[in-house]
Amino acid sequence: MFKARILGTGMYVPPRVVTNHELATVFDTSDEWIVQRTGIRQRHYVEDGVGASDLGLEASRMALERAGLTARDLDLILFATLSPDLCFPGSSCLLQSKLAVPGIATLDIRNQCTGFIYGLSVAEQFIATGRFKHVLVVGAEVHSSGLDFSNAGRDVTVLFGDGAGAVVLGRSESDHRGILATSLHADGSEAESLWCIAPQSRRNPRISHEMIDEGVHFPRMNGKHVFKLAVEKLPGVIQESLATAGYSVEDLSLLIPHQANLRINEMVSRKLNLPFDKVFNNIQRYGNTTAASIPIALHEALLEGRIQDGDLIMLAAFGSGFTWGSALICW
Ligand code: ACO
Repeated sequence: MFKARILGTGMYVPPRVVTNHELATVFDTSDEWIVQRTGIRQRHYVEDGVGASDLGLEASRMALERAGLTARDLDLILFATLSPDLCFPGSSCLLQSKLAVPGIATLDIRNQCTGFIYGLSVAEQFIATGRFKHVLVVGAEVHSSGLDFSNAGRDVTVLFGDGAGAVVLGRSESDHRGILATSLHADGSEAESLWCIAPQSRRNPRISHEMIDEGVHFPRMNGKHVFKLAVEKLPGVIQESLATAGYSVEDLSLLIPHQANLRINEMVSRKLNLPFDKVFNNIQRYGNTTAASIPIALHEALLEGRIQDGDLIMLAAFGSGFTWGSALICW
């Protein structure tokens, strides 16, 4: 068995910055309300015509370059998104074409905010068995084209932003360095707490004028319930990966949690007894970019010098599904 290691990271956000103040000109909200409840100050939005695979392409190119590899070295592309470019085929196929590497395996992952952690875990398995040598894991989202910019959707709309992050995984040269443990969970009985139900194949047609008038093509969320469960599940799944690898919270150099709400991450750090300066946050600038949030944060943490070789790093996410998971890495 081989150990899998992240060889390179990359990120991309579209140039257009949308501040809370700008949103307050569109529907009833305020910078104060958004900052107080979520920590978010701004997010990035794509221009019309840009899809998740376009954002993923830029992040992937950066990750490959930083890994010292080219797309031709890849054996598999995993693409985590809840906002694929098209109904089908999946964005992993579109990205493969844009990277000009026909023939290699591709797979889309539909696990919302936990998509990147699931991707990392799948990539790790393929590398561990020796089946594949280099796997690209991308998290990319275009939320802005699917949000409700009326007062009815303001609770959800203020949260989300567009962006992409990517990592390239390969074999580690040492048994100690790389992904040490991953934990993956889901509970589909809670799907309706955070979902977007149209277009849907159980309706014929899948989307209609009436459905659009009702606004069922927009995401809907029971925010308080999601908040409560995130604060409950994240510490548990972090402890789970630590226990699997024989470590404890005190051994962690940095926690990189999913960026859904700064208040959630504050409460998780308190529950774990982990000082908040050991928790990386950038939600202030990007909002919640769902599957992209962890690889973007990981990339920025590296650039800021917050991660050194040998550090013990925890990635953890909770989101729609519900899905939740964590990954413990020795950098
Ligand atoms: N601006 C101003 N007021 C607002 C806004 C807004 N954007 N949104 C809601 N309000 C109002 C509500 O209408 C309500 O008014 P009322 O008291 O007159 O009825 C009041 O503010 C409070 O609303 P709540 O929804 O109760 O606000 P809450 O304190 O729960 O905060 C929030 C809302 C920020 C969304 C919070 O619930 C949250 O962050 N939940 C977790 C979200 C999350 O983590 N999602 C994660 C995963 S995403 C994924 O997986 C795809």
